[in-house]
Amino acid sequence: MIANESLAEAFKDDFLIGAAVNSRTIVSQRDLLLQHYNSLTAENEMKFESLHPAEETYTFEAADEIAAFARQNGKQLRGHTLVWHNQTPDWVFDDGHGGSADRNTVLARMKAHIDTVVGRYKGTVYCWDVVNEAVTDSGEEWLRPSKWLHTVGEDFIAQAFRFAHEADPDAQLFYNDYNECNPGKREKIYRLVKSLQEQGAPIHGIGLQGHWNLIDPSLDEIRAAIERYASLGVKLQITEMDVSMFAFDDQRTDLTAPTDEMLRLQEQRYGQFFRLFRDYKDVLTGVTFWGAADDYTWLDYFPVRGRKNWPLLFDTNQQPKGAYREVVSL
Ligand code: G3I
Repeated sequence: MIANESLAEAFKDDFLIGAAVNSRTIVSQRDLLLQHYNSLTAENEMKFESLHPAEETYTFEAADEIAAFARQNGKQLRGHTLVWHNQTPDWVFDDGHGGSADRNTVLARMKAHIDTVVGRYKGTVYCWDVVNEAVTDSGEEWLRPSKWLHTVGEDFIAQAFRFAHEADPDAQLFYNDYNECNPGKREKIYRLVKSLQEQGAPIHGIGLQGHWNLIDPSLDEIRAAIERYASLGVKLQITEMDVSMFAFDDQRTDLTAPTDEMLRLQEQRYGQFFRLFRDYKDVLTGVTFWGAADDYTWLDYFPVRGRKNWPLLFDTNQQPKGAYREVVSL
């Protein structure tokens, strides 16, 4: 019966099918995860602030639990994320006297973090989002203003890739970003990765986060982004996919269930996306959803805290939606 068909099984000749998980969902969504996904990503547990809240303190419990869940159940694990402007503690950039630490100090801290974290999960994490969201969304400015950029300079990105490669020469190293199909931002990401390659930095892939909605981006924009990134000779993954029921300017907060029209459009969109992904299966090595079912999604907290959203292939009871059927029947 189609409802029982495993998503991962349906795409086993194409690419990995992943889900973001957290300490709660590896319990509450256990059966669903085991049946439908063959790759996992920790939603927050492997971020800098979660693992390394103070210079001499590492807190690995939650991340270890997710790594053990992946290992015990034969799931691949993506590591997310080593260097990001967000969810990184202030101590990394402080000189301890109320000022900014200097370049060498911040680089040494970055290296210590990467050595320890990548080293710990060597053999379990097969792929790291080494740097996340380092370019600006719009405007002339290229790299996002951040404490990493401010204290280290532009080469913080290349350095992060070098440190990660030293810590685990077998890991696949990705640059990961959102709004990745927007033509302006797409070119900034392209330029960044090209410049990393020219500097000889070990980069193997680009992660297209895939936080999309019923309208944006267009299929043409997605295709153009895939083609452009693939021209760099790197692997691609969709790393954080969801299809929000709300367009960027949709302010509604009163819906307690998705409308039939929303569900219909979402089915159509998911079908189009996966058809497109299949066309690029030679370069696309994984499609990860940012969650497993609509009972838990970060979009219930963003951009409007408390507004329910239904962006995934399984509903709030973890039952298959029409979008799931559309995708597995391709
Ligand atoms: O840890 C605190 C907890 O102590 C507190 O009780 C609770 C109260 O709200 O907040 C907890 O922190 C939250 C954290 O998730 C852990 O649950 C933060 O408020 C919340 O902002 C944070 O959101 C995460 C977000 O990244 C932060 O930027 C989302 O769960 C996570 O899904 C989201 O993931 C990002 C990717 O890493 C990168 N790409 C975009 C994607 C979506 O924003």
